[in-house]
Amino acid sequence: MSTSTSAGLRGFASDNAAGVHPAVLEAIAAASAGHAFGYGHDRWTERAENLLKEQFGSGARVYLVWGGTAANVLSLRACCRPWEAAICVDSAHLNVDEAGAPEAIAGVKLLTAAGQDGKLAGEAIERLIVRVGDEHAVQPRVVSISQTTELGTVYSPDEVAAIAELVHAHGLMLHMDGARLCNAAAALHTALAGASTALGVDVLSFGGTKNGLLGAEAVVFTEPGLADGFEYLRKQSLQLASKMRFLAAQFEALLEDELWRSLAEHANQMAARLAAAIDQVPGVTITRPVQANAIFATLPEQSVAPLLEQFDFYVWDERRSEVRLMCAWDTTAEDIDRLAGAVRAVVGA
Ligand SMILES: Cc1ncc(COP(=O)(O)O)c(C=O)c1O
Repeated sequence: MSTSTSAGLRGFASDNAAGVHPAVLEAIAAASAGHAFGYGHDRWTERAENLLKEQFGSGARVYLVWGGTAANVLSLRACCRPWEAAICVDSAHLNVDEAGAPEAIAGVKLLTAAGQDGKLAGEAIERLIVRVGDEHAVQPRVVSISQTTELGTVYSPDEVAAIAELVHAHGLMLHMDGARLCNAAAALHTALAGASTALGVDVLSFGGTKNGLLGAEAVVFTEPGLADGFEYLRKQSLQLASKMRFLAAQFEALLEDELWRSLAEHANQMAARLAAAIDQVPGVTITRPVQANAIFATLPEQSVAPLLEQFDFYVWDERRSEVRLMCAWDTTAEDIDRLAGAVRAVVGA
């Protein structure tokens, strides 16, 4: 990794490498004046919960947490009894980047299927819904999809609705890992619910950290029965913030005046600009549809190290030198042009 970000510059490692949006910092500072009851018994949490209900429906039940992994693991924990399982695509964050937390913390076995560009197809889900009622087999209970996917693609509303219909027809629940739901909704020109809960998602991990927050996520249940006892699960899973108002203040800033949309739209536009700039460079192949704020591309192997000396980014698949370039709310056109110029220079050399 280069040290470009330590010099105050921006890299392309992740959208959580970005700083905190000034409006969010201001909201945190404003919430800091005076005292307030802890654990969510404060007016910021009440307002944030109301704003989230405006987004996801007045009947939704909403719980703030610190981390995205925790939001996912807690969502599964709420859905599953000890013998029940979650179905997800093999590239899901749940499966590859949560260090086994769904199994270790939620006690939920993951049943995985290969996907296409990070998406889970209906047939793949159906192939995993087997041995229902067989006491020797783990019982599928929830299907988890990510919006956007780990490979930067976006499920269309029709795709999510079709999965929801299928999942519900089998008596299962649908969870969505919405760590980047803002980017998906911005890409689809829809409301947050229009890319998630309005399409049949029962429980949503709604992420803010990757879109300008300091660190706050929400678990949103549209199926209120699922949320029964969730306050205890959240506490047991170490996610009940004593100074909850600072999580809540972040969400207030994000949701008011659709700040979430302008930040996510900007990140998406920067990714489109970068894709257009490097797509024609001989030796560079964009490997996944660029639909939100991530670009996946293969580069000639020898060009990866020199680029890493100048910019932070992840090598996604070393075997084929596929890299991930992630744009954030604060990525600038100059950042893109600088990276694209370096790619042209290094790959062309
Ligand atoms: C799709 C997705 N879900 C969940 C997470 C988990 O977030 P956290 O790192 O806050 O636990 C991430 C983080 O990279 C992610 O990319």
